[in-house]
Amino acid sequence: MGEFPKPLAQAVDAVTSQSGTRRLDGSRIVSDQQWWRRAVIYQIYPRSFADTNDDGIGDLHGIISRLDHLVWLGVDALWLSPIYPSPMADFGYDIADHTAIDPRFGTLADFDDLLRQAHARGLKVVLDYVPAHTSDRHPWFAASRSSRDDPRRDWYVWRTPSAGGGPPNNWESQFGGGPAWTLDAATGQYYLHTFLPEQPDLNWRNPAVREAMREVLRFWMRRGVDGFRVDVAHRILKDPRMRDNPPHPAVRAGAPGAHRLVERYSRNWHEVHEVHRLLRSTVEEFDDPPRLLAGEVNLDPGELVAYYGTDDELHLPLNFHAIVEMPWTSRRLAALVTDVEQALPDGTWPSWILSNHDKSRFPSRVGRHLARQALVFLLTARGTPVLYYGDEIALGDTDIPHDRIQDAWGRHVPGRSRDPQRTPMPWDTSANAGFCPAGVEPWLPLGADADRRNIAVQRADPRSELALARTLIGLRAVRPSLRNGSYARVTVTDDLFAFARTAGDERTLVVLTFDRPATFPLPGPHRVLCSTGMDRQGIVDGEITLESGQALVLAPDTRA
Ligand code: NOJ
Ligand code: CA
Repeated sequence: MGEFPKPLAQAVDAVTSQSGTRRLDGSRIVSDQQWWRRAVIYQIYPRSFADTNDDGIGDLHGIISRLDHLVWLGVDALWLSPIYPSPMADFGYDIADHTAIDPRFGTLADFDDLLRQAHARGLKVVLDYVPAHTSDRHPWFAASRSSRDDPRRDWYVWRTPSAGGGPPNNWESQFGGGPAWTLDAATGQYYLHTFLPEQPDLNWRNPAVREAMREVLRFWMRRGVDGFRVDVAHRILKDPRMRDNPPHPAVRAGAPGAHRLVERYSRNWHEVHEVHRLLRSTVEEFDDPPRLLAGEVNLDPGELVAYYGTDDELHLPLNFHAIVEMPWTSRRLAALVTDVEQALPDGTWPSWILSNHDKSRFPSRVGRHLARQALVFLLTARGTPVLYYGDEIALGDTDIPHDRIQDAWGRHVPGRSRDPQRTPMPWDTSANAGFCPAGVEPWLPLGADADRRNIAVQRADPRSELALARTLIGLRAVRPSLRNGSYARVTVTDDLFAFARTAGDERTLVVLTFDRPATFPLPGPHRVLCSTGMDRQGIVDGEITLESGQALVLAPDTRA
């Protein structure tokens, strides 16, 4: 980190290296009422983070062993994808027991240890919460399918066959395997599964289901978890009349199942907001420390805002859909930011995500030449950034040979496998990049560049993406304008997007270029706080030139 101006390097170090006492303007982030608004969240896909018992699958001990990396990086909270007992048909999003740990990941005692060790370092821990469905191996579903008269029958969504004997309506599984309904021959009814047949949908109209699932939240909060990320928050309730979804007007020939239909009746159903109010009130039963209710809301910004409610639903609906599927151009990005800013009512707070376990990683999506610039955007935008493990070294997707595909979606629909973005974290230059020892086969292959693109190599390089990510996270921590300031668009052309973040007297200017070089007229002398190449510093003024795929983070120079 020796390349930065001294005061900045010192400030970054002060914020990122003092475990448990990370000071931000004299206050500890952990005591903040709405800590998520100031936080950088880091998503861990536990299977792929670090393996400590030589089975090629990441585990809780592995996460504990790498907490110091996260403290050094400067993030504030970890969100763990599901760690509960599961047959792993959907790698943990098919839960067979909500209040235990899958033995592949460890034990409850290991989890308590992880919590204790994370908290001791000033890190929050957020768990995935999957309310819309369970595993078909969950004892609730075993009881439910055992007979039409079982008291748990109504815990899931059962319907008699349509008049013609087929599924009750035209809803399709999200994973492209056919109808969202499977016939249970023994009881002669179909059950609903928005995703795999191994993931039957829970019936949230049943008060007993609501109560049982609220108890799950309490169980983890009593142990000390700091919040939840609600899986498919917009799919928990559906049309009670189960009407057919209308055909999509602009559907491409051959589009897979669910994409041929407009999901009018099977998602974003208005009554789902009742459920979020209930979840929020449950989370608020625990206020010391305050707990986060974030949620996956895979909808456009205009639809997503409803999930804040009147500050009585999700604290932080996670908006990743629009950003991951759009072309990474100046005008599109600027328009998206405007859409989000305009859609959000006063007092609500956005989030930004570039990669996750469901979507292609951002360096592969936007292109390697724009990866650093995209990282600058993520970490300077107004809103809570969520980094996906590996984003800090700009990890890309890994091609998976056909015979090693693990993801059920990839097996149902060619090209839809999510394995490429779930490969093991490369830590160093040792065998298996330090994810697991030599001689152990990791559950998915490592990327071909793991010996070069890994944490150890990038830590030794002051110009690496890791150095860039850490500097930006450090800048957020020391600059209120970046952390929680307002947003204003400054300039948008085909090749350049500039915006300002302002808090009180402090202003930060961010200038991004895309596929071509561009110039930008500065309105006076500015100090370079950070550049994509980690190579520019000092004062700049007048018309500045940026190469393609560059970004500068600037502060007005007040010494002039
Ligand atoms: C969204 C999760 O992110 C994804 O990984 C999962 O397959 C589905 N929900 C079903 O739970
Ligand atoms: Ca393991």
